[in-house]
Amino acid sequence: MNNTLIAFYSLFQNTKNLALEIAKQTGGTIRELIPDKNYSFDYNTAAKEVRNEISRGFCPKLIFGNESIDDYQIIFIGTPNWFKTCAPPVMSFLKKHNFAGKTVIPFCTHGGGGFGRIENDIAKECTKSIILPGIAVNGLVSSEEVTNWLKNVCLT
Ligand SMILES: Cc1cc2nc3c(=O)[nH]c(=O)nc-3n(C[C@H](O)[C@H](O)[C@H](O)COP(=O)(O)O)c2cc1C
Repeated sequence: MNNTLIAFYSLFQNTKNLALEIAKQTGGTIRELIPDKNYSFDYNTAAKEVRNEISRGFCPKLIFGNESIDDYQIIFIGTPNWFKTCAPPVMSFLKKHNFAGKTVIPFCTHGGGGFGRIENDIAKECTKSIILPGIAVNGLVSSEEVTNWLKNVCLT
């Protein structure tokens, strides 16, 4: 069995597209994190909802994505850059599981801000993991970009 998991949250599909490309190239299992209440597709409304949740450190209940990660050794964790940090559903996933001894690789999509604090915030929740250099993509991903990155971090 392939021991690679690609867990991600995506509102507008950019992070989902990146996750699908990583899954295609690694043969890993894809796992979309779904919160019990999704965010608005209207940017201004979503921004209010997200700012409020992030400022409170709120982690929503996941209605999908909280299954055990015991079978996986390599875990890619993907999120949109939301105000420089992870989307709250990704924080829910990080806080729910024990990543000790696993290899964790962050990935994100963004609108110009790159990773922001995302890599640090993931590392804080995975203190006993090996964290490999991730990939941050502005909008849409190219498969070559993913290929080169995976080769560089020795995952293909
Ligand atoms: C609420 C909200 C906050 C955002 N904050 C940032 C930010 O701080 N920096 C940035 O570069 N992009 C920011 N963006 C843009 C998203 O990171 C970008 O569009 C991303 O690709 C969306 O991923 P998705 O399609 O998987 O939802 C924000 C978008 C939203 C909706």
